[in-house]
Amino acid sequence: MRHDHLITSKQLSLEDIETVLDRAAAIDADPSAVADRHAGRLLGLLFFEPSTRTKMSFETAMKRLGGDVVDMGSVESSSVKKGETLADTVRVIEGYADALVLRHPKQGAAKMASEYVDVPLVNAGDGAGHHPTQTLLDLYTIRENAGLEDLTIGIMGDLKYGRTVHSLAHALTNFDARQHFISPESLQLPREVVYDLHQEGDTQVREHESLEEVLPSLDVLYVTRIQRERFPDESEYQQVAGEYQIDTETLEAASDDLTVMHPLPRVDEIAPEIDDTEYAAYFEQAHNGVPVRMALLDLLLDDSGGENDE
Ligand code: NCD
Repeated sequence: MRHDHLITSKQLSLEDIETVLDRAAAIDADPSAVADRHAGRLLGLLFFEPSTRTKMSFETAMKRLGGDVVDMGSVESSSVKKGETLADTVRVIEGYADALVLRHPKQGAAKMASEYVDVPLVNAGDGAGHHPTQTLLDLYTIRENAGLEDLTIGIMGDLKYGRTVHSLAHALTNFDARQHFISPESLQLPREVVYDLHQEGDTQVREHESLEEVLPSLDVLYVTRIQRERFPDESEYQQVAGEYQIDTETLEAASDDLTVMHPLPRVDEIAPEIDDTEYAAYFEQAHNGVPVRMALLDLLLDDSGGENDE
């Protein structure tokens, strides 16, 4: 894999995806083999938006590779509060770290920031744009549970603002997948994403307002949270809040082999009673963030150190 920065999943070829997933599987099987691989190296964390899983799993991943992190901390306690621009902040922190991870509320922020730095920069979410490392762990989880060949997936919820959805949908065009998008009309996939999906691959794309008609055919149901923080108007959020929830009764119509995923955090989209069923893969999915991010950092740090062993 040869990428200076990872900004969107559109950059990832099938070969790139397989390289990361295979390396993650090897790390998962024997994490001790890489325990000192990046000793002395530092990952800079810049999170301008709340995060639990993404930030902590990047930190865990870097530490499990023998490295460490430097963390900008909250926006409130950083110089951003004094009016520092993102371009200046990343230029300063690249002097402290071997790679950077950035989450920012503005779509396009990671791409812009990457133009100011030489160390690898990983987009950990840019507004309603992209979240490519979530996609890698999603693909890893799909591969482990349902397989990536001949896949029928339903992606449900906030398809308009959900960056994990945009990234996953693009990445799935590398596979022979049938993608069903289920949402209220007001939260449909942006038209430019649909257009891109048709341009990019053999993927079949279908849009629905009801889960009922597609549920029995699905191998994977990927549920997402309505992205309340991205609605320009709270009343618009209230009109769709609480729609598209699933419980064990909903899943009576599903195949026994269905895998239910969610990038988390969930609000009320998946009833807790599903957690203990064979369907639920969302906590496993969150745990997969560590080996997958270890694999990705390992590849990016190898490349940036000039010792490309791929
Ligand atoms: C997602 C995100 O931040 O886009 N969370 C995550 O990284 N797992 C999903 C969400 O916030 O709904």
